[in-house]
Amino acid sequence: MKVTFSDKKFTSLKSQALILPIYKSKKLSKETKEADKKLGGLISEIIKEGYYTPELGEVHVIYSYEKIKVKKIILLGLGKKKELTCEGYYKAISSAIAYVGKTNIRSCAVYIGKKEESKIQNIIEVSLLALYRFHYYKSKKKSVKLNNLIYVYKGRYNQRKLDEIANLAQIIVEAVYFARDLANQPSNILTPKKLASEAQKIAKFPIKIRIFGEKELKDMGLELLLSVAKGSDEEAQLAILDYKPKKYKKTIGLVGKGITFDTGGSTLKPTYPVDSMQGMNMDMSGAAAIIGTFLAISKLKPKNIRIIGAIPTTENMISGKSQKPGDVWHSHNGKTVEVVNTDAEGRLVLADALSYIQKKYKPSEIIDIGTLTGGCIMALGHEYSGVFGNRQKLIDKLLALSQESYEKLWQLPINKEFHNELKSDVADLRNIGCGKEGSAIKCAAFLEEFINPKTAWVHIDIAGPAIQMKPQKAYFQKGGTGAGVKTLIEFINKIIPN
Ligand code: BES
Ligand code: ZN
Ligand code: ZN
Repeated sequence: MKVTFSDKKFTSLKSQALILPIYKSKKLSKETKEADKKLGGLISEIIKEGYYTPELGEVHVIYSYEKIKVKKIILLGLGKKKELTCEGYYKAISSAIAYVGKTNIRSCAVYIGKKEESKIQNIIEVSLLALYRFHYYKSKKKSVKLNNLIYVYKGRYNQRKLDEIANLAQIIVEAVYFARDLANQPSNILTPKKLASEAQKIAKFPIKIRIFGEKELKDMGLELLLSVAKGSDEEAQLAILDYKPKKYKKTIGLVGKGITFDTGGSTLKPTYPVDSMQGMNMDMSGAAAIIGTFLAISKLKPKNIRIIGAIPTTENMISGKSQKPGDVWHSHNGKTVEVVNTDAEGRLVLADALSYIQKKYKPSEIIDIGTLTGGCIMALGHEYSGVFGNRQKLIDKLLALSQESYEKLWQLPINKEFHNELKSDVADLRNIGCGKEGSAIKCAAFLEEFINPKTAWVHIDIAGPAIQMKPQKAYFQKGGTGAGVKTLIEFINKIIPN
C-alpha cells in the first residue's frame, strides 16, 4: 500500500474516492463547505432534507459527476463533536476504509484535518488493519484493489516526520497481519513444529533462533511444558529468538503462550451448552504476537537493547498418555506443581519458559502474553486485555500508551491472598485456585511464583481481544486479531528507551 500525505484542497485531489468525515451540527466545516459549493450544494441539501444524518459511522456516497476530479465522495458521519471519542473516530474511519476495500477503488483520499502525530499513526494503522483478509483456503480470493491511500491534513507538519510515521505504521500493521495469519491457521496445519518454523523464518541477521525439541527440554528440566505435551502426538518445542545488537545496555524478555490447540486435556473443555473448544486453534495468539513483534524488530533494529523472545509451544490434547488431575511435576525453577486442572495449561508452559529465560539471559524486564483465562473475558469483555505485574511504574507506562492506542489494557490486582490460595497439599503449588472467582488474577499470581522479584515483570492476558468469535469492529474483525503486537512494539519503541 502506498501511503502519502497531502495538504491540497479536496477540490484539486486526483484520487478516485474521498472519505469526508462530517460532524452532526447545523453548520458544515469550512473545508466541507468548499466541496459543497463546487458540488452545487448537494451535501448541504441531502443533510437539510434529512436524506442523510451524520450519525457516528453512518456512510453516504455521492458522485461528483466531474464537478470535481474525485469521482466518489464518501460522507462519513462522526456524530456530535462533543461526544466523539478516539475509539469512535478510529471505528468510523476504519469502517469507511473497509467499505472502500470491498469496491474496485484503487486510490482513496481521507480527510483527517489537524491531528497529533501519534493519532495520525493510529489512523493509518486502523485503516490498514480494516483491509485484512484471511482467504488462504478459499478457492476464490476476494483481494483488495485499494493500493493508494492519501491522508489529507490541515496545518503544518514536517513532511519527513509524516513519512516516518507512515513507515512505522506500516511496519506495525505488517507485524499484526503476520500474527493474524498465524492465529487464523487451523491446528492441523499450524502444529507446534510449524509455529517454531514460522519463528525461524523471521530469524535473519541480527536475530538468531534456537529451537529445542522434547529430548532437550527434558534435559533442560522443563517438565511443566512437557506435562502439557504428554497427550499429544505432536512434539513440543521451545523457540528462543535472540535480537542482539553489537552493543547493548540491557536485556528484555518477551514470552508468548503457544498452545496450537487447547482441548482442555483430561479436564476436557465442555461443548455444551456452548462449544468452548471452538477457536482454540487461536490459543497460540500470545506466541503469534511475539513472532509478529520480532518481524517488526527485524526492520526497526532498536538500539542498545537485546531482546529475547521465548515461545513455548505444544498442543493440549486428551489421550491415554495425557497428564491427569493431581499429577505432580518438577518445574524448571525447582518448585513442584500439582496439576489440579489440565485446562489451566497456559500458565504451566509460560512458567517454565519464564524461569528458563530469567536464568539464562537475566533480563531486567519481562513481558509475558497469552490467551490465559476465560475469567479475563468475563471480567473485561473483548475490548480490554488484563494487565498485571510487579512494578507499578512500568504498568502505568503501558496503561498510558493504551490510552492513546486502539489496543486497550486494564489493570487487575494481585495480592497475597491469591498466592495463598495456590498452596498445594502435596506439592509446592497447585495450578488453579480453589474456586472460579478471580481466575485471571490467580493465573497471574501463579506466574509470579516463577518471577525473581528483582525482575520487572508484566503479564498480559489477551484472551478477550485476541480471539473474536463475532465481528466486532472494522480493525478487529472475526477471528485472530493480532492483539498485543502494537503494545509490544510500542513498549520496545517508546517505553524502553525512556
Ligand atoms: N485457553 C484457555 C483460555 C481461553 C478461554 C482463551 C476462552 C480464550 C477463550 C485456557 O487455557 C483455559 O482453559 N483456562 C481456564 C482456566 C481455569 C481452568 C482456571 C479457563 O479460563 O476456564
Ligand atoms: Zn486451557
Ligand atoms: Zn489455553
